[in-house]
Amino acid sequence: MSVHLILWLSVMLVTQHYLYGKAFIFQKKTATSYVLLSPDLPLSLQAFTLCMKVASVLPINREIILFAYRTKDYDELNVWQEFNGTFSLYLSGPGVYFTLPTLNTFGSHMCVTWESKSGLTAFWVNGKRSLRKVLRPGHRIQPEGTVILGQDPDSFLDSFDEAQSFVGEISDLYMWDCVLSPSIIQNVYLDHSFLKGNIFDWKSLSYKCTGNVIVPSKPLTGM
Ligand SMILES: *[C@@H]1O[C@H](CO)[C@@H](O)[C@H](O)[C@H]1NC(C)=O
Repeated sequence: MSVHLILWLSVMLVTQHYLYGKAFIFQKKTATSYVLLSPDLPLSLQAFTLCMKVASVLPINREIILFAYRTKDYDELNVWQEFNGTFSLYLSGPGVYFTLPTLNTFGSHMCVTWESKSGLTAFWVNGKRSLRKVLRPGHRIQPEGTVILGQDPDSFLDSFDEAQSFVGEISDLYMWDCVLSPSIIQNVYLDHSFLKGNIFDWKSLSYKCTGNVIVPSKPLTGM
């Protein structure tokens, strides 16, 4: 059995967690710490909205992986802060780059939206949309891969590079198989009521931590 399949099977056995008020805390750069997420729907996607709150004080001149979804041979959906501080989305091939406020210690609420029909892609920071760019019109994101936070899997899931690892906090991760309206994205940012994430929902997330990732046992309120 491949490493890929073993990891995929192991995450399927994980139960759902209510993470509201909690976070994944990646304390230091490693090539070994990561969180595997188990989606509620297969990632066979012609559109998506991915949201998460991210805090990091890593220096600009460093690549930072924010979200990685990889099938056996392709990086299907990767979100980065690049070496030069721009943010990028890659869908198994070329990427699009967005100049946004860089990550900081207080946390940014970030969403990425993409739809296949037009290829229109946007980043949303604290509820505000960036300009739109076009990425891979007509493309479909393929299912049966693995979603990882904290590391960029280059081939199999054990080939990580600590120089690309994530250090900081990730929380409030939600993903939908459609592009949400601006008003719903505002609600997600403001933590008002909104539709359950049908792929990932922070209030019922199936995940497995490996290495040095801390999840506080009690929710932090106002902290
Ligand atoms: C930042 O880096 C990316 C990836 O290397 C590159 O494509 C992009 O043009 C750069 N952007 C700026 C503003 O330098």
